[in-house]
Amino acid sequence: MANRTLQGEHMLTEAGRVEWGSRNARASALAHSPYKRDFPLLATRPDLAFLDSAATAQRPAVVLEAQKRFYETMNANALRGLYQLSVEATEAINAARAHVARFLGLDERKDVRDIVFCRNTSEALNLVAYSFAPTVLGPGDEVCITVMEHHSNLIPWQQACRAAGAKLVYMYPNEQGIIDEEEMRAKIGPRTKIVSCVHVSNVLGVANDVKLMGAIAHEFDAAMIVDGAQSAPHFPVDVTDLDCDFFAFSGHKAFGPMGIGVLWGRHELLDAMPPFLTGGEMIDSVTEQTATWAPVPEKFEAGTQDAAGIYALDAALTYIESVGFEAIQARERALVNQCMRRLGELDFIRLIGPDDPEAHHGVVSFNVCTVHPHDVASILDMDGVAIRAGHHCAQPLLDFLGIDSCCRVSFAFYNDSSDIDRLIDGLNHVWSMFHG
Ligand code: ALA
Repeated sequence: MANRTLQGEHMLTEAGRVEWGSRNARASALAHSPYKRDFPLLATRPDLAFLDSAATAQRPAVVLEAQKRFYETMNANALRGLYQLSVEATEAINAARAHVARFLGLDERKDVRDIVFCRNTSEALNLVAYSFAPTVLGPGDEVCITVMEHHSNLIPWQQACRAAGAKLVYMYPNEQGIIDEEEMRAKIGPRTKIVSCVHVSNVLGVANDVKLMGAIAHEFDAAMIVDGAQSAPHFPVDVTDLDCDFFAFSGHKAFGPMGIGVLWGRHELLDAMPPFLTGGEMIDSVTEQTATWAPVPEKFEAGTQDAAGIYALDAALTYIESVGFEAIQARERALVNQCMRRLGELDFIRLIGPDDPEAHHGVVSFNVCTVHPHDVASILDMDGVAIRAGHHCAQPLLDFLGIDSCCRVSFAFYNDSSDIDRLIDGLNHVWSMFHG
């Protein structure tokens, strides 16, 4: 679960950037984000209130520069060449892999080779569903997920269950949006072979207690898989403490490039799994009719990797660490609080998800009475406010909530009160256009 001890008594270490210690300092830091200047897109578009970081975050200049630097100074096909340039590209990938291991709370010396680079969370979860699931799933077995899964952590399990003749079982949230222990114990049992759960819901913003869920899964020798797309960029993740078996996240939601994702898995599981994609670089040896596989992680990294993207992801993690999760959480919490309070003052807004702002991790969903979310988003866009509207790739959740679609704002630490002001003005504009 997210660290809940932070109440904003934070002072950033980078001198002169943000003081977060006093009430006035907090108000001022929230009124004008000192971080926007780190992000070229935000710095050059002060007319834009970007409130869709759950879909993809913006990238700081250091990440964009790293990607360019790779191509300018070390571009070669990593792993393949024996010349210096290729060695440098390989070292860049190795350093990034070690950094990702540290970022996930692992021991980089021991666990670095259990970090697999892929394109995104969807690909990471497909890798597990296509390579791991068939090794444990048979007819009559069960895979247990929640109704709040993103389609990335739902459709691969539909497919895996269909292929194995297994059953897909759903856990449902209570009135506070929480999958409680009673529900976990009602659904996870002796037939369960896999439990897979979103860490933070991209619609409700709630953080699931994946540590407890994993402990229950392990009571039945089931594997625990965590979709960390909406958690890893927002609060510290320690997969050792979570005691899960697989964890996936995307670079592009973590201020890194699009097209780079991470899968971590327990070594003995990865080692026993067959490859997902086959081809170059993932083999040990090949004859006309047979092949043997390279060790983990190369076994799962067929073809030329996006080395520049991996190098830039390394820079993104360094940037996150320089801001610090204390500041990230304190700012996001304050932004969510302010946003929910101000939305609550508009009598035409229906908030979705828990009433408690503390339960929302950077995400606030809502509807405007009688106005379709697509109309809301389009009118907001005319006012320079970017939000997401639709089913958010979580159609079973929206069915469960009894709605077809909704509006969603999602924050990163670079947002500030001016973005919320713009949102509220825009929503008043929407309302006046339909009911003025
Ligand atoms: N998964 C992304 C979102 O929820 C695209 O917006």
